[in-house]
Amino acid sequence: MARKRVAILISGRGSNMAALVAAARNPVYPADVVAVLSNQPGAGGLERASAEGIPTAVVDQAAFGKDRAAFEQAIQQHLDAHCADLVCLAGFMRLLTPSFVSRWSGRMLNIHPSLLPSFRGLHTHEQALAAGVRIHGATVHYVVPEVDAGPIVAQAAVPVLDGDTPDTLAARVLAAEVRLYPLALALVAGGKSTLTPQGVRSAAAVASAVQLIVPDPL
Ligand code: GRF
Repeated sequence: MARKRVAILISGRGSNMAALVAAARNPVYPADVVAVLSNQPGAGGLERASAEGIPTAVVDQAAFGKDRAAFEQAIQQHLDAHCADLVCLAGFMRLLTPSFVSRWSGRMLNIHPSLLPSFRGLHTHEQALAAGVRIHGATVHYVVPEVDAGPIVAQAAVPVLDGDTPDTLAARVLAAEVRLYPLALALVAGGKSTLTPQGVRSAAAVASAVQLIVPDPL
């Protein structure tokens, strides 16, 4: 099976992007990272991608003002230029329009730093601490027009420890994210997780179960 060509969209430091790039260095990994795009010119992940020899491009959202269609058309042109089969959102902080998302239905993934459907939106670690949960984590899901609501491919769970702050919890979740996303992308790119009208169907039972990844308390 030919490796799926994956484009990664970032807005910041690119921790998850770097993990996906590292995973794809293995020639048997079912995905190949062909481009890293950012909506922010200063995104630190762009340098990390370039250092790995990955083609990068900036589609500066500020240059498009409120013209979302033109912004997304520019993104699409880069995706077409690299013949992307899949898109991975990795710390991409820009809402995409329903029409763009629908065009990539079943071919666009996102990682969200909570155990969806709990704690959608921003400040997920603050939400988790305020709710007093004892288990928190991250979710890789297919992107649908509704924000943080797509069918779930896989999840990683971490403990919430006494004395945790949003920063300590975020660091523990991020340590799980960078292990989870390469796993989830491999399942999708390798055809082991498929999107059906009933949700995600995974060949490996472990794929859709909670991946209880408990890194050493940081
Ligand atoms: C991560 O927690 C990710 O889940 C969220 O943004 C954070 C930063 O991601 N979407 P990265 O370091 O830019 O990959």
